[in-house]
Amino acid sequence: MKDVYILGIESSCDETSISIVKNGCEEIATTVLTQMDTHAKFGGVVPEIASRMHTENITIVLEDLLSKAKMQVSDVDAIAVTYAPGLLGSLLVGVEFAKTLSLVYEKPLIATHHIAGHIYANNLVKKLEFPLLAVVVSGGHTELVLMEDDYKFKVLGTTKDDAIGESFDKVARVLGLPYPGGPNVEKYASLGNPTYDLPKPMDNDELDFSFSGLKSAVINLKHNEEQRGNKIREYDLACSFQTVAFDQIIRKSRLAIERYNIKRVIVAGGVSASANLREEMQKLCAEKNVDLSIPPMKYCTDNATMIACAAYPQFLKHDFSDFSLHAKSQEYFFKNEDM
Ligand code: KG4
Ligand code: ZN
Repeated sequence: MKDVYILGIESSCDETSISIVKNGCEEIATTVLTQMDTHAKFGGVVPEIASRMHTENITIVLEDLLSKAKMQVSDVDAIAVTYAPGLLGSLLVGVEFAKTLSLVYEKPLIATHHIAGHIYANNLVKKLEFPLLAVVVSGGHTELVLMEDDYKFKVLGTTKDDAIGESFDKVARVLGLPYPGGPNVEKYASLGNPTYDLPKPMDNDELDFSFSGLKSAVINLKHNEEQRGNKIREYDLACSFQTVAFDQIIRKSRLAIERYNIKRVIVAGGVSASANLREEMQKLCAEKNVDLSIPPMKYCTDNATMIACAAYPQFLKHDFSDFSLHAKSQEYFFKNEDM
């Protein structure tokens, strides 16, 4: 079969990124321009600034990518873009840019979901083999998903309230840590010990998750200690929170592995950048004799490489979009078992 080159575009949050990937698994080149330093000054992503910066940067990112790849847009077979979920203004910049490239260069347009990107980033390590259990841990998702084939999903467990990444971001704020929250909580946690007693959420045999009670427990503990005039040991509190949060992921993953006789696990989403979670997942999978895949660190945070990977099965199925494609700030990914 002829090689397929897909140009992927990602602009759902504060990274402008474009990539070319061959056959859904071989990165030709990627450019990522992050706005993190700008948003850090405001303590979080400012949507209006994010979309303006995407607009300013996206052609520069494309030029840089093409020169690294030593290719032209006319050389690729399709243009893929993250259409959901994310900041609407930011998504729109990517979607309209993708439509323009598709129109000018007469290439099919592929609308790819951001979470599909996080899942298919694993193809950069090793081609997905089915069935597998996807442990999805991101800013907006916490799910255990059984994948029986490309884009065939069965949700085994999901969060009843906050997503795990969201809880890291909220706890970071409580601890007064700057944006981005997750990596900063991890840094603090690495300097402390889990000495604070926090409640273990969902201590049962269900596969669902909960993170809001844990976050509230952190807030209450800090408040109560301050009321008593005690100083909080921030490193220990970060470590205690992280330990309980990841314990929940590991406990539920273990249950799913046992219940569904899982042989392969992949981890997807921004929280998989955590060294601590990576280590705990490795221990679990070694204990259960399960094959584990986690994307390399640079593909855990938002990038267009993962979008071009996720678009490949869509390309093979001719799942193309027309120019009526809209960006969507929210769209639940696992709503159907089929694409
Ligand atoms: O997957 P992602 O890009 O979000 C969505 O696509 O929804 O990941 C971003 C999330 C943020 O909540 C961030 O705090 C979290 O991933 N995160 C981490 C770490 N690095 C990023 N959480 C815990 N530890 C980390 N090292
Ligand atoms: Zn993401």
